[in-house]
Amino acid sequence: MLHDPFKSTQRMILPSILSADFAKLGNEIEDVLAGGADFLHLDVMDGHFVPNISFGPPVIKSARKATPAFFDVHVMISDPVGYAPAMVKAGAQNVTFQVETVDDPAKAAQDIKRLGCTVGITLNPATPVERILPALDHVNLVLIMSVVPGFGGQKFMPEVLPKCEAVKKRLRADQRLEIDGGIHLETITQARDAGVDWYVIGSAIFDTPDRKATIAALRGKLDGR
Ligand code: DX5
Ligand code: ZN
Repeated sequence: MLHDPFKSTQRMILPSILSADFAKLGNEIEDVLAGGADFLHLDVMDGHFVPNISFGPPVIKSARKATPAFFDVHVMISDPVGYAPAMVKAGAQNVTFQVETVDDPAKAAQDIKRLGCTVGITLNPATPVERILPALDHVNLVLIMSVVPGFGGQKFMPEVLPKCEAVKKRLRADQRLEIDGGIHLETITQARDAGVDWYVIGSAIFDTPDRKATIAALRGKLDGR
């Protein structure tokens, strides 16, 4: 379990708690971290930018009490800059916003980073890479959506892999490339070969009985085993 994943250049596995059983969220968090996950991905959805509502600061605050692990918060909301302070106050250490929700991505990135957290920018499968370029110098990570955001358990969209390669080429050594959506044993090596550093995995981990074995198998794929 990591408190500051930016200190390492290792590939990271970060379970998305959207696929966890919220009736026992603390146990689910403990289970995946004890099972070898590096840190956690938390999907905030507002039912406006995406056709689903997940959770917000109250749940982040409770989850924060359950673990010191780094919280990578992905906000699929229409007002990311407006709600970023509440996410950070609740325990978010990274806030990743959707480029489709802001007029000025560079300014949004700087506004969020000013809160003392790290900042990521992400783009939907249909959004061209060009849209995030103005913000590239100001972010700590780029998250490539490999599903249309809103739900766990969707099918991986390999057509986003060229975006991974195009973005990877432009990143500094201190920045990270993350992928999110439909990552499992059959798709993870495609993402690895496209240069991805951080792997968001929801249903492929939480929908299995033995998370430790699942994470070990996923890591084996990353290591080429
Ligand atoms: C989708 C979320 C993803 C999702 C991943 O809108 O951003 O993080 O939870 O879940 P899987 O791995 O099941 O596609
Ligand atoms: Zn996500």
